[in-house]
Amino acid sequence: MMACMRVGIIAAILVLAYGELGYARAQYSFGPRPDNGIVVPYEPTPDNVVEGMLKLGAVGPDDYLIDLGSGDGRIVITAAKTFGARGLGVDLNPDLVNRSLANARAAGVSDRATFRQEDIFLTDLSRADIITMFLFPQINLKLRPKLLELKPGTRVVSHFHDMADWRPDASQKIQTTEHYGDTWIFLWYVPAKVEGDWQWMAQRGGVVQRHVLTLRQKFQAVEGSIATESQRPIEIRDAKLQGSHLTFWVPIRDAGRTARWDFQGEANGDAIVGNDSTGSALGRTEEPWRATRVRQ
Ligand SMILES: C[S@@+](CC[C@H](N)C(=O)[O-])C[C@H]1O[C@@H](n2cnc3c(N)ncnc32)[C@H](O)[C@@H]1O
Repeated sequence: MMACMRVGIIAAILVLAYGELGYARAQYSFGPRPDNGIVVPYEPTPDNVVEGMLKLGAVGPDDYLIDLGSGDGRIVITAAKTFGARGLGVDLNPDLVNRSLANARAAGVSDRATFRQEDIFLTDLSRADIITMFLFPQINLKLRPKLLELKPGTRVVSHFHDMADWRPDASQKIQTTEHYGDTWIFLWYVPAKVEGDWQWMAQRGGVVQRHVLTLRQKFQAVEGSIATESQRPIEIRDAKLQGSHLTFWVPIRDAGRTARWDFQGEANGDAIVGNDSTGSALGRTEEPWRATRVRQ
């Protein structure tokens, strides 16, 4: 008798679950799906983690934020209400979109927090200064090429899942105040594309020489060397690329001593504009630095 009841209960659960799944598929059917039909279920980011994500992304009043898979709208609404930003949330689930619109009205931020039903793979992200997400690892990876095409310096903040070999620029462990324990949040800056040979003219040892900086790049990790007509290539040191801002230095001989030659500049298309400085603790000379890409 008990066994029959158990089988009956299991059968009822299966029918209900299958019905729910069928309903979800019918409701969110947008034709062939670029995410291979993987639907990330709704699970809200705890409020203190939302706050942590927005702080890690340094969200401010000048920012336009897009939350990919926005659930009840809490990330976009908090960005607008607490951090003064504007934003958009997109979600496949129309009930969650309606709930978000109502939550934004209740929070008094309807003019700055908007929501629409849309597949995240179809959303135009070009306007975003910051993208937030709490999805699945395989969805993050499918989004990655699209994120890497965004304007350099765009911030991407993910709750829980990282971006595989695109290492985060910063990460933080946060203790949640809700049903699960510690969690992680990750921040990336979309890196400018700086790979290639960059050339400029500069005076070294009393003569003006052509300098060639050769850069190799994997996401934001950059390495390379500087060559002149009279010197063998010197490996660059401590290269750092954050968005479009590039910094590195090379060791040089200056008046018989070893000194640093520091570079910093903004990469924009085929130009890097900034300055370089040479010298030691005894004194430094700073000059404008403008390099042009001659080979990608
Ligand atoms: C884990 S929840 C995160 C909700 C919210 N971002 C938060 O952190 O509280 C993921 C959300 O993504 C939505 N979602 C999943 N796949 C999607 C897709 N391809 N396009 C749009 N939304 C999607 C789900 O409906 C769900 O609301």
